[in-house]
Amino acid sequence: MLMKCLVVYYSRGGKTAKVAGAIAGELGCEVCDISKGAPDVSGVDLLVVGSGTYGGNPGPSLSEFLQSIPESVGGKAAVFATSAGPKPKSLPKMSSALEKKGYKVVSSFDCRGQFLVVNRGHPDEKDLENARAFARDLKNK
Ligand SMILES: Cc1cc2nc3c(=O)[nH]c(=O)nc-3n(C[C@H](O)[C@H](O)[C@H](O)COP(=O)(O)O)c2cc1C
Repeated sequence: MLMKCLVVYYSRGGKTAKVAGAIAGELGCEVCDISKGAPDVSGVDLLVVGSGTYGGNPGPSLSEFLQSIPESVGGKAAVFATSAGPKPKSLPKMSSALEKKGYKVVSSFDCRGQFLVVNRGHPDEKDLENARAFARDLKNK
């Protein structure tokens, strides 16, 4: 059976949007910018959620979205983030919000995103290739 996937992201400065596009392209699914409105997640088998990291948090509208979605029975999810530094705190926050809604978080991905003069040019092509590999691997989860 074909798995229905959906990528939902928040990106204040466009870096996470690039990663979201790479993941959705690999999965062949829709990609939704949460700042343009919350999507309907009913019937989605794999919900992939991502954000930049702002003061250790995902974007506020993404957090609100995760609080607003209905409880899932057996739904799978995956999370991704861009950040200035390694181990972004936004990732476990998105994971735990999804787990509270009954999702099983099967995988996570993060890469650096340019912040002022730090990580200049990131996410770069290698980061996007790693994001596509993360997405390919999701198909087997
Ligand atoms: C207001 C603000 C706060 C940030 N706070 C953090 C942070 O706490 N930790 C971190 O690793 N990066 C932080 N960053 C860097 C961003 O997470 C990083 O540049 C990210 O790639 C931005 O993604 P976007 O272009 O999709 O918004 C911050 C950036 C901004 C603009």
